[in-house]
Amino acid sequence: MLHALADPCQAAAELAWAYHEDGLLVVEHGHVAAFGAYAEIAPTLAPDTPIADLSGKLITPGFVDAHIHYPQTDVIAAWGSQLLDWLNTHTFPAEQAFADRAHADEAAAFFCEELLRNGTTSALVFGTVHKTSVEALFEAALARNMRLIAGKVLMDRNAPAGLTDTVETGRAESEALIRAWRGRGRLGYAVTPRFAVTSSEAQLAMAGDLAAAHPDILIHTHMSENLDEIARVGELFPDCRDYLDVYQRYGLVTPRSVFAHCVHTTDDALGRLRQAGAAAAFCPSSNLLLGSGLFSLKQACACGVSVGLGTDVGGGASFSLLHMMGEAYKVGQLRGEVLDPMHAFYLATLAGARALKLDDRIGNLEPGKEADFLVLDLSATPLLARRTAGARTIAEKMFVLSILGDDRCIERTYLAGVLAHRRDGGLRPATA
Ligand code: GUN
Ligand code: ZN
Repeated sequence: MLHALADPCQAAAELAWAYHEDGLLVVEHGHVAAFGAYAEIAPTLAPDTPIADLSGKLITPGFVDAHIHYPQTDVIAAWGSQLLDWLNTHTFPAEQAFADRAHADEAAAFFCEELLRNGTTSALVFGTVHKTSVEALFEAALARNMRLIAGKVLMDRNAPAGLTDTVETGRAESEALIRAWRGRGRLGYAVTPRFAVTSSEAQLAMAGDLAAAHPDILIHTHMSENLDEIARVGELFPDCRDYLDVYQRYGLVTPRSVFAHCVHTTDDALGRLRQAGAAAAFCPSSNLLLGSGLFSLKQACACGVSVGLGTDVGGGASFSLLHMMGEAYKVGQLRGEVLDPMHAFYLATLAGARALKLDDRIGNLEPGKEADFLVLDLSATPLLARRTAGARTIAEKMFVLSILGDDRCIERTYLAGVLAHRRDGGLRPATA
């Protein structure tokens, strides 16, 4: 059993995680009651306590995806373009289909199942501009008891007519969604202006007002992903000192803000993010596929910024946070910044929970947390079996998993102590 305990940027390596080769996780009423060495915990249990023997497997917390778009499942692996062209050619047409509730329902169910198949138990999710897209996703997540945060996209300019709202409809629909869904099951809301290119100043100001009026919701948007995008923001907001300043002017940079990408960001902007307590979502698969650039985790760490890990599906090409850990490592290699495997594991779990301000409930398996956890199979393929058999330490095993592993390694996914996905099990069982 393995979980992260602290940010390796700030804590001594030996305090950053805990591993028990022979461990015991005790779950009661959907929460973790104990996590530790089998030899210590087993004698404290009542004699009739049922114990599942998972010898040879690895138990970890569920993964947390700090940035993903559920309506973009069908544009994964689109060939040949960079961000602004990719949005116009692939993404906006796919998002138009979410005006249709039946389409949104089907896509939302597929999306939630794909998250669980990949061991992702929580995510911060973009819908489309259509209110109904978020209703479909919330219904699907509620039915599965997933801890998920989502929002309706705000977008009132520089987008196709069928994909825009207005300041007033954006406000009214966001407020209706907040009223109807916030706090139901394990759901949360994020006010979601797409990015500075597609919202007017009035709409950004409205988004800031919404966030101020509802202090428990998040703010979720994109920032400084691509050089052409950054130049466009400079043209649209000539009086702002940089991209972050646009969001700062409208009250959108708070401890509850998550900015996807932040690839091309100065120390000055990162320092302002840290001061505000806002988080960045590092999306390495997307940044490589869209040719956006190489995020510097080292720079973000040095500036003290909270960083989570995002798939950014469909810019990113996999739902797997294991795969993202490997992609983050490759980005680090291209920058000459080697990423420790336990740091990558922290990014995929506790760091995401911190970015989403959910670390009092999820992110690791400390007693009292919600029992969202995984059973990982380190021998899921012949090659993985061969390679992990030769790995001496848990760090080495995690590195091998991040490079060779994916959804095939997720043997089981539990949500609040209840089995929600079993790799070999076919239909989902009702209980553990
Ligand atoms: N910036 C604005 N919208 C998007 C999007 O849908 N995906 C990515 N990767 N970046 C964006
Ligand atoms: Zn995105």
